[in-house]
Amino acid sequence: MPRQLDPAVVRLVDLPVISDPRGDLTFIEGDRHTPFHIRRVYYLYNVPVDAERGGHAHKDLEQVIFALSGSFRVKVDDGSTTATYWLRNPRQGLYVNRLIWREMDCFSQGAVCMVLASKPYDEQDYYRDYSTFQNAVREKL
Ligand code: TYD
Repeated sequence: MPRQLDPAVVRLVDLPVISDPRGDLTFIEGDRHTPFHIRRVYYLYNVPVDAERGGHAHKDLEQVIFALSGSFRVKVDDGSTTATYWLRNPRQGLYVNRLIWREMDCFSQGAVCMVLASKPYDEQDYYRDYSTFQNAVREKL
């Protein structure tokens, strides 16, 4: 059993799927399948298999991360506990709350990572330095 963070901060989110002989259809409704209003969608693609993405935490942003195609690994860290998830199912996303350090790697060839976010892009919302992130977590305790 992998280590688990508090589900209030990191948890897998299952999406509906409508299957018929023509294929599978999955949908996402903001505020219903995400615990926030969706303000931004971005996606990573053409990711080299040896690339590392992430390496930061957010001050306020909430996200749900999906592997729309292929697979990749997501390591999450709340400042004291770490957990690892493999995303490979487009019906299942990973909810990541604010103040969670995340690193993503082991992208399969052709993987597509889609991220739903609660706010527009703002560089001021990032902690890109791990010790600054840890200090911020300690201050909130
Ligand atoms: P970053 O969030 O560091 O990417 P990742 O976590 O996937 O490794 O963003 C990489 C660059 O893209 C950085 O210069 C900021 C920019 N960017 C935007 O301009 N808008 C966005 O919505 C995102 C997510 C990133």
